[in-house]
Amino acid sequence: MSGALAFGWGCLRVLAGAETAQLSLHPEDNGRSYGGRKLPLAVTISVTHRCNLHCAHCQAENDLAKPDIPTERMLALIDELAAAGTVRVGFTGGEPLMRPDFGAILERCRSRKLIVSVVSNGYLVPRYAEVLRGTDLLFMSVDGDRAVHDRIRGAGAFDAFLKAADCARRNGIPVAALTTLMSYNADCLQEMADTFARMGIHWMVSRVQTGFSGRSEQELSPEALERALAVLRQAPCLRTSRRYLDFLASGRPLERCYAGVSYAVIAPDGRLFPCFPAQFDHAAYGGGQELLRQDFQTAFRKLPLYRATCATCTLACHAEANFLQEFNLESILQSLRIRR
Ligand SMILES: C[S@@+](CC[C@H](N)C(=O)[O-])C[C@H]1O[C@@H](n2cnc3c(N)ncnc32)[C@H](O)[C@@H]1O
Ligand code: SF4
Ligand code: SF4
Repeated sequence: MSGALAFGWGCLRVLAGAETAQLSLHPEDNGRSYGGRKLPLAVTISVTHRCNLHCAHCQAENDLAKPDIPTERMLALIDELAAAGTVRVGFTGGEPLMRPDFGAILERCRSRKLIVSVVSNGYLVPRYAEVLRGTDLLFMSVDGDRAVHDRIRGAGAFDAFLKAADCARRNGIPVAALTTLMSYNADCLQEMADTFARMGIHWMVSRVQTGFSGRSEQELSPEALERALAVLRQAPCLRTSRRYLDFLASGRPLERCYAGVSYAVIAPDGRLFPCFPAQFDHAAYGGGQELLRQDFQTAFRKLPLYRATCATCTLACHAEANFLQEFNLESILQSLRIRR
């Protein structure tokens, strides 16, 4: 069965066995176990604490003192994901290419026939192009035009993105630019849209989360959000769904969420969480399920729901996972357009 069909079939099974009331975002369900069918169809792994940049908005820990999941455990984890029915694995970090064994990890995913995406800042893409060949989608973060991107990510970052995109094209690696929408870039989105269209690459966006960083000056004002959405709605290379743009425009939270039900995230120290907000919310959620001494399937089965900061959660990766899970046609078509 192709990856897309296996994913769709998995989503149907989750819906057929759903405990509908618990999918709604009731705060009283925080920390409770889910009573319906769970299938870890998509898992995002932050493979490392390490990073070569210090971006202004970043919530990743970038803590060099903390050990990452050891290689042997990481490879076994990939086997366990495949056995548990995972179809898609996304790698993020820190900077995934900072992990010396990242090639072996990708190789293991390929041998398990997983659909693989990688999010990178681009700097190390030319050095590891060989390793990245065969990746289904390489997201490269671009947070502005040249001036804004370099201000957020450091001098030379935009050039590094251009070199990385060129290298990916020469090596046949599908690329999408990934932009965090924030106050700094709200007014250069048209220029970005033109640049990506000229380069012939896909574009995805996600709204900045400041709930745990306290950097509220990075939030988009209602006027800036309106201007941003007007540009995004007209951008031909945008692969983020209109459903997501409408969700941002509405200012209302999602109605249902499948975090910990059909998708989950793994932190670089080997702890499993339903979603990134849960990972950063130690007070309301605690430490997640550890994966260094228990297998993935057991940890996923035990993983409680998170229902604490859902009212302010606008991360596109999670929102789009929910739209796909509920068979939103446009989200499905957009996702098929960017994946091989
Ligand atoms: C944490 S980075 C890790 C991968 C890689 N280092 C990179 O920059 O692409 C993954 C994505 O999360 C985004 N990100 C970082 N901090 C964020 C925040 N506070 N809210 C939303 N997205 C954020 C980054 O811009 C990047 O696109
Ligand atoms: S490159 Fe990625 S992980 Fe590193 S600081 Fe920037 S956004 Fe965070
Ligand atoms: S924080 Fe977001 S992704 Fe996590 S459970 Fe709530 S709505 Fe879902």
